[in-house]
Amino acid sequence: MGHRFLEITGTPSVRAARAAQGSAATYARFEGGPDTHDQLGSAEAGFIAARDSAYIASVSETGWPYIQHRGGPPGFLLPLDDRRIAFADLRGNRQYLTLGNIAADSRVALFLMDYANRRRLKLLGRMEVGASEDASLAPLFAAARRAERILVVTVEAFDWNCPQHITPRFTEAEVTAGVAPLRRQIEELEAENRTLRQGLNPAQEPAA
Ligand SMILES: Cc1cc2nc3c(=O)[nH]c(=O)nc-3n(C[C@H](O)[C@H](O)[C@H](O)COP(=O)(O)O)c2cc1C
Repeated sequence: MGHRFLEITGTPSVRAARAAQGSAATYARFEGGPDTHDQLGSAEAGFIAARDSAYIASVSETGWPYIQHRGGPPGFLLPLDDRRIAFADLRGNRQYLTLGNIAADSRVALFLMDYANRRRLKLLGRMEVGASEDASLAPLFAAARRAERILVVTVEAFDWNCPQHITPRFTEAEVTAGVAPLRRQIEELEAENRTLRQGLNPAQEPAA
């Protein structure tokens, strides 16, 4: 009971490391009380729906961690309710590493970055292939023509990280929106410049 993310990740060896490093008391404060950090609220759902990429970690049968990057237009990760997130599994290199891993162990970690705003969200959950008759998954099939299946993550816990050490990075769309006022200002100044030049040299043809 308590902070579900810390509860799941607080294994005996993690706790031993904290005890050895003197931070055990810091995290003991989050133990007990009603469960928190296990249901997606509006902040989490909004953040997830706005992402254009995700890092997804699964566990191999031999215990090796495996991370794959997934990407798509904002909205490719669809929060279905306060526990579930779905996305289209696209036809790709056909290695099926994530798909194979979750067949043996459904536990996954999702790592979602918002570089521009220096925010990140970590989620732990169980991933499975969505049922084809599940009507709530239909929009994902419709949006992704190369979808082989829909994968559904049932979230068990999440945690936000602090922005420290996240270098801001911007997508092409974010850069375009950011420089739009500057472009407009340059166009206005260029027009003003043309008018002024014409005033100084009325005989001169206005530059194209
Ligand atoms: C031609 C091609 C296009 C791909 N397009 C996407 C894509 O748009 N989004 C994405 O997340 N992965 C894309 N992938 C990656 C594959 O879907 C990849 O096989 C999938 O992420 C499964 O990876 P895994 O076997 O490592 O789990 C693409 C791969 C190929 C070869």
